[in-house]
Amino acid sequence: MTETTPTHYDTLGGEAGIRRLVDRFYDLMDAAPEAVNVRVLHAENLKASREKLFLYLSFWTGGPATYVEQRGHPRLRQRHLPFAIGTRERDEWLWCMDRALGEQAMPDALRSALTLKLHELADFMRNQAEPADHAAARRELPQGPEVVPGN
Ligand code: HEM
Repeated sequence: MTETTPTHYDTLGGEAGIRRLVDRFYDLMDAAPEAVNVRVLHAENLKASREKLFLYLSFWTGGPATYVEQRGHPRLRQRHLPFAIGTRERDEWLWCMDRALGEQAMPDALRSALTLKLHELADFMRNQAEPADHAAARRELPQGPEVVPGN
């Protein structure tokens, strides 16, 4: 008899567990004032988003690879480029995900590991320069003549 180590997908409760997580995530995004800026990036009806995130997270946690079979290589950053994602949108997305993850039954070690990875992934989706980035870019420009206001 061969014993196989359960995948994260199994530990999260398989299809039903991932659906619960994704549904809670989008229910929060749909209703919470804390998530309005990330909500408006999505279509009015979140059904398609729920299905895509469900398929992606199933694959990502070691479950069925239906997402890749249907949509090809995830290329998640590229797929997010049409949407303006800055720190505000990232943090609102994570606000929903942290709460949804916090409510699901799972070992603490798995919750911490998933939280860490999802924070890294969400940060990777950012595609908007932030004020701090502008300041850094300005410092790299050659210094021009000072413009004195009023002159
Ligand atoms: C950082 C903040 C994020 C924002 C603001 C954001 C927003 C969006 C939006 C507006 C869409 C298009 C609507 C849709 O197809 O559902 C989308 C698609 C998607 N997002 Fe995100 N997202 C973020 C982070 C993430 C992360 C961390 C993941 C993975 C865990 C993820 C997974 C997906 C997937 C799988 C799709 C569908 C892509 C496709 O196959 O077309 N997103 N996201």
